[in-house]
Amino acid sequence: MTRSLLRTAQPDARRAAPGIAAGSLSALSAVALLAASAYLITRAAEQPPILYLSLAVVGVRAFALTRAVFRYLERLASHDAAFRQLAVVRTELYRRLVRVAPAGLGRTDRGDLLARVVGDVDTLQDLPLRVVQPLVVSGLTSVVAVVGVALVSPPAAAVLAGTLTVALVVGCVAADRLARRSERMLAARRGALSAAVVDLVQNLDVLVAFEAVDARLGRVATLDADLRRASSRRALTAGVVAAVLSALSGAAVLVTIPVVAPAVASGGLSGPAFALVVLVPLAVFEVVGAVPTAVLAWRRVRASGERVDSAVPSEVPDGVVDDEAVPSGDGDAHEPGRAAAAGATTPATQPALPPAARPALRLRDVSATWPGAAGPALRGVDLDVAVGDRIVVEGPSGAGKTTLASVLARFVEHTGRYEVGGVDTSTLAPAAVRATVGLVEQAPYLFDESLRQNLLFARDTATDDELLAVLDRVGLGPWADARGGLDAPVGERGVLVSGGQAQRISLARALLRGFPVLVLDEPTAGLDPETAGRLVRDVLTTARDDGSTVVVVSHVEVPVELVTRRVRIEAGRLREVPVDVEVEVAGSAGSGVASIAEPGAERGACG
Ligand SMILES: Nc1ncnc2c1ncn2[C@@H]1O[C@H](COP(=O)(O)OP(=O)(O)OP(=O)(O)O)[C@@H](O)[C@H]1O
Ligand SMILES: [Mg+2]
Repeated sequence: MTRSLLRTAQPDARRAAPGIAAGSLSALSAVALLAASAYLITRAAEQPPILYLSLAVVGVRAFALTRAVFRYLERLASHDAAFRQLAVVRTELYRRLVRVAPAGLGRTDRGDLLARVVGDVDTLQDLPLRVVQPLVVSGLTSVVAVVGVALVSPPAAAVLAGTLTVALVVGCVAADRLARRSERMLAARRGALSAAVVDLVQNLDVLVAFEAVDARLGRVATLDADLRRASSRRALTAGVVAAVLSALSGAAVLVTIPVVAPAVASGGLSGPAFALVVLVPLAVFEVVGAVPTAVLAWRRVRASGERVDSAVPSEVPDGVVDDEAVPSGDGDAHEPGRAAAAGATTPATQPALPPAARPALRLRDVSATWPGAAGPALRGVDLDVAVGDRIVVEGPSGAGKTTLASVLARFVEHTGRYEVGGVDTSTLAPAAVRATVGLVEQAPYLFDESLRQNLLFARDTATDDELLAVLDRVGLGPWADARGGLDAPVGERGVLVSGGQAQRISLARALLRGFPVLVLDEPTAGLDPETAGRLVRDVLTTARDDGSTVVVVSHVEVPVELVTRRVRIEAGRLREVPVDVEVEVAGSAGSGVASIAEPGAERGACG
């Protein structure tokens, strides 16, 4: 799978060609410059008429210029291609992230994920820039240089070819041996350090309260020292390899001298030509020195590719709903890279729900297992949610209530049958189900933007008056006024608002959207009993008045006169509870006793 990611990171031949061509011309200019200079200086020492030198003089000037110009063009073209390709990689990664979030990312540390998606993805640009490009350029330059030297002196060319081969083999093997561990360690340690720093900063309040800051800082320092050690080991590797290559380039010169000396003595080779063939290896080795570095870079790129791949898997893990695995009649659009490049999602071709505005839900023998979990969190659940039902879901902590809510919103994959409006959801695009069944999560996410922006994305056509009205409905009207209206910031992940307020903002969002079926996962956690009661009462009353369907998960007492049914989940199994039976509601310290008036009066149809 890493291979497909790496293939996405490499620009296609057409886009990579200008950079490679410019790079090769620059490298060849460098070799030619040294050859022309060596020839010019030694020929000048023979004091020929100045006319004989003019060609070499022009050559030196021209190659000095072309080396710099092509080098500039190479940088421009290759970086342009690499950055454009990086944009494709990023799009592809975000596509993958969206596909597995939220259920598929539960096990990835946020800081490490950040390091992978930012740092490791950046490293992928080294594939075209520091792996493919130098390999191709060095290969081309070596071949041309050996052929060029062969035209002047075949024995010198043989020496050059031999020493180059030795240098490449020794350099690559040494780099590979030394780098294999350090490159892999380096990426992992960078991720660990980033995770530790993010963890430290985000939980500073807890750490200060428990006087645990020093311990955490110590951990960061240890990770930092580890990272530094791995970095210096890599630097050492690069240094050793460069030294080996320098020694070999010197050796090439030293070996060439005795090999071509007889030809000079016999008059077969002129002095200036001798200088040329002896000195050219120096320039060629400089170009070829990039090869072991490319091997190092390849290790680094591969390690980063693996890390990105494991953080953001290209295959949707078991248990997570795959948003794109719906027969859409357009198989090509799902091929990684191409889909991203074309920005292709194909909502138009995916099946949609029939336009029945208010569908009923029907679950038969539904089980669900979280990704990586040992056993199912929901087992063989049968549930019918009729149009207009207002169902309260109770049960002890960890029983599977959130899991049920996540199944209803198609975040977690299930076995068994789940129908919305009589249509099996496995034949529907998950997005289509989510457009019908809205979820207010137990721990809602707020964006670091204004209150307005946090509401508007639910329905971007809403006016300020509508936003204020919905805030009023969730009891946040006066608070929003005091905060300066809709422009009030909520802070990163809602740090500037209380937990209960965050939950109400998230509820306001869902109300604004007007989902036909609303699933509320503990919408009142973090609220005082009075506000909680008022809020739930308001939501359920409104639902009763406009006939919409609500499934509300609650630890706390819910006004039973407003609900049509009650179900209870224990250890993943669901059972119906008569609305008028007193049940101890876990988590509410024995106070959550439901009493009921007119049970069944509003009972929705229950299959
Ligand atoms: N993302 C996850 N990955 C793996 N296991 C999970 C995940 N979320 C929940 N679980 C497990 O699934 C089981 C049911 O959890 P769930 O969140 O549905 O409980 P809950 O009834 O909502 O509890 P609470 O009332 O505390 O919110 C638990 O054993 C829990 O540990
Ligand atoms: Mg829960």
